[in-house]
Amino acid sequence: MLSVKDLIVHIDGSAILRRVSLQVGAGELVCLVGRNGAGKSTTFRTIMGARRPVSGTIALEGHNLLHLAPFEIARLGIGFAPEESEVFGDLTVAENILLPTWTRPTARPAAEREALAYRVFPRLERYRERGGQQLSGGERKMVSIARALALDPKLLLLDEPTEGLSPAVVPTIVAGIASIRELGHAVLIAESNLNHVPDFADRLYVIERGEIIFAGPPADVRKDAAVARVVDGAG
Ligand SMILES: Nc1ncnc2c1ncn2[C@@H]1O[C@H](COP(=O)(O)OP(=O)(O)OP(=O)(O)O)[C@@H](O)[C@H]1O
Ligand SMILES: [Mg+2]
Repeated sequence: MLSVKDLIVHIDGSAILRRVSLQVGAGELVCLVGRNGAGKSTTFRTIMGARRPVSGTIALEGHNLLHLAPFEIARLGIGFAPEESEVFGDLTVAENILLPTWTRPTARPAAEREALAYRVFPRLERYRERGGQQLSGGERKMVSIARALALDPKLLLLDEPTEGLSPAVVPTIVAGIASIRELGHAVLIAESNLNHVPDFADRLYVIERGEIIFAGPPADVRKDAAVARVVDGAG
């Protein structure tokens, strides 16, 4: 489904991604874990076409994404919920969620795509007519994820979906991600906190200073002492 190979990205002359490779299979839930500044958001932005790599390849179902514009990559079926959530304050919750149904028409009707978003985050249905600027941080995250889901994507990229949220809201977001996965969408999540990685993740990658230092099942992540130090924040 998504195949990233040997991605090298420089920003202002510094090597920020150093041969990053990762794979997400159809229906898989994969996590990219790394400390602040490790290169998670840069990886996502590069996949979405917002940064040009020096070298490497990015393909969705064998379709080369390099040199496509972000809107073209979204139309091919990659939904993106960025770290900053970016909910449109002047639009209602329902309008925010419906936006991608206009930009990427699919076989699934708009009303059904909106209904799926509320199935994943039931609380949002009560806030349908509320303005985007009248939402809490947790609700903004939900709208951002719900909107990416309403794209009817093949793959969802969620950049730190639980970051900055109170512990009380985190289970709601994790439950929403679980139901997105049950709907059959492939999901790639960036996380800086290993404790927030859903225990149903199929695979984990650990990124450190722009390099992938671990790839494998979540249960194996602490087997290498150097990797354990990074994910436990002591390195
Ligand atoms: N626009 C930019 N200009 C200069 N440096 C940047 C820019 N964007 C990212 N960087 C640098 O690239 C590195 C990786 O940043 P990135 O945002 O990808 O990390 P991250 O893993 O998402 O971190 P966080 O957990 O804090 O979100 C950092 O050292 C950061 O300072
Ligand atoms: Mg980030």
